[in-house]
Amino acid sequence: MHSKSVLAALLAPAAVSAQLNDLAVRAGLKYFGTALREGAINSDAQYAAILGDKREFGQLVPENGQKWESTEPTRGQFTYTQGDITTNTAKKNGQGVRCHTLVWYSQLPSWVRDGSWTKATLTEVMETHINNVMGHYIGQCYAWDVVNEAVGDDGNWRPNVFLSTFGTDYIPLSFNLAKKADPNTKLYYNDYNLEYNGAKTDRTVELVKLVQAAGAPIDGVGFQGHLIVGSTPSRSNLATTLRRFTALGVEVAYTELDIRHSSLPASSSAQVTQANDFANVVGSCLDVAGCVGVTVWSFTDKYSWIPETFPGQGDALIYDKNFNKKAAWTSISSVLAAKATGVPPVSSTSTSTSTSTSTLTTITTTRVPSSTVTSTRTTSAAPSSTSSASGAEQTRWGQCGGRYWTGPTKCQSPWTCQVQHEWYSQCL
Ligand code: XIL
Repeated sequence: MHSKSVLAALLAPAAVSAQLNDLAVRAGLKYFGTALREGAINSDAQYAAILGDKREFGQLVPENGQKWESTEPTRGQFTYTQGDITTNTAKKNGQGVRCHTLVWYSQLPSWVRDGSWTKATLTEVMETHINNVMGHYIGQCYAWDVVNEAVGDDGNWRPNVFLSTFGTDYIPLSFNLAKKADPNTKLYYNDYNLEYNGAKTDRTVELVKLVQAAGAPIDGVGFQGHLIVGSTPSRSNLATTLRRFTALGVEVAYTELDIRHSSLPASSSAQVTQANDFANVVGSCLDVAGCVGVTVWSFTDKYSWIPETFPGQGDALIYDKNFNKKAAWTSISSVLAAKATGVPPVSSTSTSTSTSTSTLTTITTTRVPSSTVTSTRTTSAAPSSTSSASGAEQTRWGQCGGRYWTGPTKCQSPWTCQVQHEWYSQCL
């Protein structure tokens, strides 16, 4: 290489992108991740391309492939075809993996669920399952959800075959077995509705203490984050709830985030509320030392478990069914960028009734100053939109500017290009 080009390379700005995992890492998180739908990855190239871009998603979780019914549908016969889809995809793209899940009442084959067990025989079944599955994925999982959903919505221990055989002793037992099978992965308890800080959260605090008091290892608590637009707690309340767990010495993460509209189609104001709710969830993770990352439970409304589980509800994710980024994507990007750079999102100057203004107001008022980022950055938060050679115009929600953006900078009428933060302007 000529010395001149070496110099040019040294002076060039570091290759950064405004994509979610890159921003999350710059903001101090370990990753921004997504669940992988096994049935879609080989049949939908657009899905695979976005999911496989590690600048956007640094970590993958199999949506169903590692569950007991997938890995050991018949006693003693293990199959990893579905689970391996995620680990192979992650390997190919240089992404990490969260592994999910070992001891859970649901998606549990009937030979376990309906068996008649003693403590000794069920211990043997659990040990064989955990040894085989964790052994197969050893060295590949950042964390394992060892026990999933052991607490009922009313705050009582959830009835299941494990509870009826052992009482709550099955919980520390599971963590001990997991530690023996893979001593080097993080061992998590994972559940939903912990975000509301009610009776279920209280019982889960008790669960962590119970495992610790039994001398068993537990490293983390996963907040699934299956939330509802307009009913998502505030950023500071979410942070308070996360801290109840980090105070016990475990890390926390949002592990299955989606925020569903309770009726469809969503109005544009509901989309703004959704965007603010996502920003508050991600922001709360940024606010809590010990919150390591955020995973969305799939990223596109095309593939989401919500409509099949909650009929009439949905559009809970950050890309729409056609893989366009939604306002929720932008709000997450903004809250991450604000933390990553210490530069608050730039308020829109638009006087229209554009939805972005209220989104940005909320984000601006809820952000905390960053102390983590020492990277070089320009002092200006203005976008350095380079002009588009093609003269093409972006549709609503499309990107139209930002540092290093080389695509179109004009928006189709009536939308205007509005600065969200230094790396991202959007047609709104
Ligand atoms: C869901 C999957 O997304 C669906 O495809 C499947 O039919 C049911 O399970 N809590 C969990 C996840 O821990 O494993 C669940 O995933 C959603 C709720």
